Amino acid sequence: MNTPNQNIKPITTKINSNGNIEIGGCDLAELANKYGTPLYIYDEQTIRSITKSYKDAFKNYPMVNMMFAAKAFMTKSICKIMRQEGFGLDLCSGGEIYTAKAAGFDMTKALFNGNNKSYDDILLAIKCDIGTISVDNFFELALLNNVAKSENKSIRILLRITPGIECHTHEYIQTGHLDSKFGFDLTQIDEAIELIKDEYKNLNLIGLHAHIGSQIFETKVYNDEIDVIFKEIKRIKEKHGIILKEVNLGGGLGIKYTEKDNPISIYDFADVITNAIDTYSKQYEIEKPVIFIEPGRSIVGTAGVTIYTAGSSKQVPHGRKYFAVDGGMSDNARPSLYQAEYTVEIANKANDTTQEEVTIAGKHCESGDILAKDIKLPIIEEGDIICFYTTGAYGYSMSSNYNRVLKPAAVLVNNGKSDIIINRQSYEQLCESDVIPERLN
Ligand code: LLP
Repeated sequence: MNTPNQNIKPITTKINSNGNIEIGGCDLAELANKYGTPLYIYDEQTIRSITKSYKDAFKNYPMVNMMFAAKAFMTKSICKIMRQEGFGLDLCSGGEIYTAKAAGFDMTKALFNGNNKSYDDILLAIKCDIGTISVDNFFELALLNNVAKSENKSIRILLRITPGIECHTHEYIQTGHLDSKFGFDLTQIDEAIELIKDEYKNLNLIGLHAHIGSQIFETKVYNDEIDVIFKEIKRIKEKHGIILKEVNLGGGLGIKYTEKDNPISIYDFADVITNAIDTYSKQYEIEKPVIFIEPGRSIVGTAGVTIYTAGSSKQVPHGRKYFAVDGGMSDNARPSLYQAEYTVEIANKANDTTQEEVTIAGKHCESGDILAKDIKLPIIEEGDIICFYTTGAYGYSMSSNYNRVLKPAAVLVNNGKSDIIINRQSYEQLCESDVIPERLN
């Protein structure tokens, strides 16, 4: 069965009688008019359809905890939606923990990841009664135990391991290969376990965690990941007499940005995981564990689009034609950071079949601020509303104030209604943290 991560557009995308693109029953040109641009637009039905697909796909393996990887898109409203859908949260910073808590999220359903958690982050997590902490390294084991001891708490922990699996994705978003900044090397696990047994009495080791990368299209890597983890669980049982009952497989399922991408469906993802659990629990004679998965991109990526207004243009003599929009690398860093490609349309010219080759540039003072290179679009005119699909993940969450450009607003659309979920930043907010020392006055 096809799932929304295999489509470029949100499931409610239509062309309406004005020849405009509509998402969630809202005309994008009208949204541009009402809220201004750049604007992130999230389709609630697409998000909920994906969370439902995840639940349905794993229905034969009830011991799965779905944790939305909040790093993909974190706001208070998304926390509410995730809770309503029965998802937990994978959080990776004090700021994400604070946001979830401020949204009233049940923190026992959250887990805390990260390779350099600070004392303050850990204290906040413990004070919020976070469900589980995935420990990344020796330094953190000691720090966590100290904080837990001073708070008189016992903390459920997973050990993050580097499984030594390479997946074919952009080098910057691979994480499971051996020479990685994340997790314990398998040769360090025994030492970690001895420390937990002998010294770190406030840590309760319940399982292992790995995350092999992001924007993954293959199934085999998940099979291999489970092989490595289950084998390690057997080894730990034999060597230390400790039975680990929980396994966090991380996230990573890919989405379709352009026609070149061919991601697997959520059902195929679930099948490879449940089959591998069967195979390797038998092979290594271990009990089937409770599983955590942490999808981020595949939950919100396809649901989100960004709209811009076209501004200036430039025809390079005998060269490219550039059209600049009112945003750029500050609201979407992915093209300049990972050479990411997107599918683009003109929201107010959806039926226009003329085509010319253009390059869409951002407004930042940097030559690399190109959002889409050499794409075919109907002839753009100043004021047109340009829609970039699949910007829902790692767009807003990696946005910046580069060039003192304001962060855009985000709206949630559903059944013809649009609601602000993030206000557009104001110039006052932009200067809020600036301080002028007395001696400069
Ligand atoms: N779990 C852990 C421990 C992670 O580090 C990540 C992503 C996820 C889960 C969620 O992975 P997802 O399902 O979203 O692939 N900024 C990059 C992506 C970096 C991913 C970092 N970790 C991008 O824009 O492509």
